[in-house]
Amino acid sequence: MTDIVDASEQILCRLSDIEDGDARGCLPADGQDQLFVVRRGAEVVVYLNSCPHNWRPLEYRRHQFLAPDHSHIICYAHGAHFEIDSGYCFAGPCEGKSLVRIPSRLAGDCVVVPRALPPTRWDG
Ligand code: FES
Repeated sequence: MTDIVDASEQILCRLSDIEDGDARGCLPADGQDQLFVVRRGAEVVVYLNSCPHNWRPLEYRRHQFLAPDHSHIICYAHGAHFEIDSGYCFAGPCEGKSLVRIPSRLAGDCVVVPRALPPTRWDG
């Protein structure tokens, strides 16, 4: 699996590990996923798991990043609502700000992102 990425990239997870329309946290560090992936069919969007309101992780339990109907992303800390495709906050305490999107690509069944990532700022 590693021969399909170069030294500047890393494999996050397999596309087939994410149900269509659902999300999954990836890249745990100190027990907290640094990124999350949202799948829509054969496409994915990847965001830093750090909310632009208070720079906290978004999920209320592992892999729970979406509204119950999977129509958008929710930060469960204080209820910010984000569009899936753009990461734009359309309601909540950080309305008008956006999640930090991570460039990604699919290599076969693998979701690939750069090895160099922005800081999550959970403690900031
Ligand atoms: S930290 Fe996300 S809404 Fe407050």
